[in-house]
Amino acid sequence: MAGRLAGKVCLITGTGGSIGRASAEMFAREGAKVVGCDINAEAAEACVKSVRDAGGEVVSIHPCDPRDPSMCQALVDCALSHFGRLDVLFNCAADAHFAWLDDLTHENFAYTLDAEVSIVFNLTKAAWPALAERGGAIVNMASASAWIGYEALPGLAHSAGKGAVLSMTRHFAMEGRHHGIRANSLSPGLIETGATRDLLQHPDFRDPMLTKIMLGRPGLPEEVAALAVFLGSDESSFITATDIRIDGGTTAW
Ligand SMILES: NC(=O)c1ccc[n+]([C@@H]2O[C@H](COP(=O)([O-])OP(=O)(O)OC[C@H]3O[C@@H](n4cnc5c(N)ncnc54)[C@H](O)[C@@H]3O)[C@@H](O)[C@H]2O)c1
Repeated sequence: MAGRLAGKVCLITGTGGSIGRASAEMFAREGAKVVGCDINAEAAEACVKSVRDAGGEVVSIHPCDPRDPSMCQALVDCALSHFGRLDVLFNCAADAHFAWLDDLTHENFAYTLDAEVSIVFNLTKAAWPALAERGGAIVNMASASAWIGYEALPGLAHSAGKGAVLSMTRHFAMEGRHHGIRANSLSPGLIETGATRDLLQHPDFRDPMLTKIMLGRPGLPEEVAALAVFLGSDESSFITATDIRIDGGTTAW
């Protein structure tokens, strides 16, 4: 298959979610062989069906939780046994508790770091030897919350988690240079997804959030997926150790 990711085997986490699914679909349209996973088996299966219905190649493990290192090894083994190599790792899945400091429990803070940071560390560690074989690309999902505080979003734990993803990515890039591995992150602002759709119904959240966006609307999962395709493809061959903000101008004013 021709395309910007032709011949590449790409492992994407959270393919049951909005951005993960849009990415699986777009990566496959661009010629990638996709390995997906999600803790939500039903949603991950729906993604498999939609990729295959469009003529794409995908395998998926679900339910699968990369907070568990053994599941990470299973994902890498799945890529190697089905497709013989691994070229791109897109760490997209994450989960977080949102609460202001007074209400944020120690348990929920620790959970968020696990579900946003350990999940990236575990899978990157497992995928590293396979990526190092031919050189590869790591794309990590950070967030505008790694850069700014939103007055309408109680995102303390989430900011800490995504801030760690941002700085960890720099380190992957520095260590990866010895193996031809590039590592970058992307930082979306408000995107209309399964995680935000209900919140966007509430004016107390929606109005201040939209006011922060120069372009005046939330982003779409496909717009984020397009950036992930770019960072995973050879078009970004001289880009490493950086973060690209995809936030409609949110963090610039
Ligand atoms: N929506 C936004 O405004 C926004 C902004 C910035 C960053 N992000 C990031 O984008 C990514 C995708 O989020 P989304 O908005 O598409 O949300 P989503 O809820 O639609 O998708 C997230 C998916 O990840 C899966 N997941 C969560 N924890 C998991 C785990 N431990 N193991 C396996 N799967 C797990 C969920 O089941 C879900 O399918 C997340 O990392 C999120 O933090 C989203």
